[in-house]
Amino acid sequence: MSAVTRLRHLAGTIVRRGPLTDRRRRRARGDRIESAGAAADVSFAAAVEGRASVRRYLPDAVPRADVQRMVALATRAASAGNAQSWRFVAVEDGATRRRMKAAVEEKLDEIGAWPEAADLQAEVRAVRGYATFFAEAPLVIAVCALPYESRIDRLLTARGVPPDERDRLRQRPEIQSVGAAVQLLITAAHALGYGGCWMSAPVIACEAIECILGVEPPARLVALVPIGRPAQSPPPRRRLSLAEVLRFR
Ligand SMILES: Cc1cc2nc3c(=O)[nH]c(=O)nc-3n(C[C@H](O)[C@H](O)[C@H](O)COP(=O)(O)O)c2cc1C
Repeated sequence: MSAVTRLRHLAGTIVRRGPLTDRRRRRARGDRIESAGAAADVSFAAAVEGRASVRRYLPDAVPRADVQRMVALATRAASAGNAQSWRFVAVEDGATRRRMKAAVEEKLDEIGAWPEAADLQAEVRAVRGYATFFAEAPLVIAVCALPYESRIDRLLTARGVPPDERDRLRQRPEIQSVGAAVQLLITAAHALGYGGCWMSAPVIACEAIECILGVEPPARLVALVPIGRPAQSPPPRRRLSLAEVLRFR
């Protein structure tokens, strides 16, 4: 090796060491998220702001270590009474995903044949795409909710407050908790270099999907989250301005 090559080699080593040292520092600080596929260092704001719903995926399988990491991060969500009323089913099997898709299509066919839907066929067609693309992802995480009964719920029940009124007063804490976990799940997937999409449309076929996945009552399907390496990079969707969503009193 010539003196010049040796110098370049040395310079390269030094240049490469910089980021490595940084990375170690970040790991010590605990803000490193590591994927089995590709390492990703992301700040919280970058993960939140960089995420967008991804609806097309590469076929590469998602390693279980990454699935476990994403779900572990999702379970850091706040939950009413710390009841952690979420459960996850990671669907790796393509045939199972296709059966789930067929169940959604069957339900949408049924809805499309309703007399009330006669003038709404464009809606039915649009929902079909919006509700079934999950089957094309290499992984789908089905997110389920368990019932949660707080002290307030018990008091309202004892008082005989009807379920509708109870829902208005309580706004479904178990579903709020599961929603928090789903948001963390899709953000964690993004931080690990995956694309994902929060989907509630397929829940229209919840009975059939719960049966396919062996989800037993009282657990109920709340959302599907297809995940895979992104085959598209959708631009961020517009958000309302702060002035539209925030006010101080
Ligand atoms: C509760 C909920 C349900 C959703 N259901 C679907 C769905 O069924 N199909 C779909 O394609 N996107 C679904 N989305 C994704 C939204 O369309 C998307 O988050 C929104 O348009 C904002 O875009 P962004 O996620 O790229 O920021 C859902 C999002 C949420 C929060």
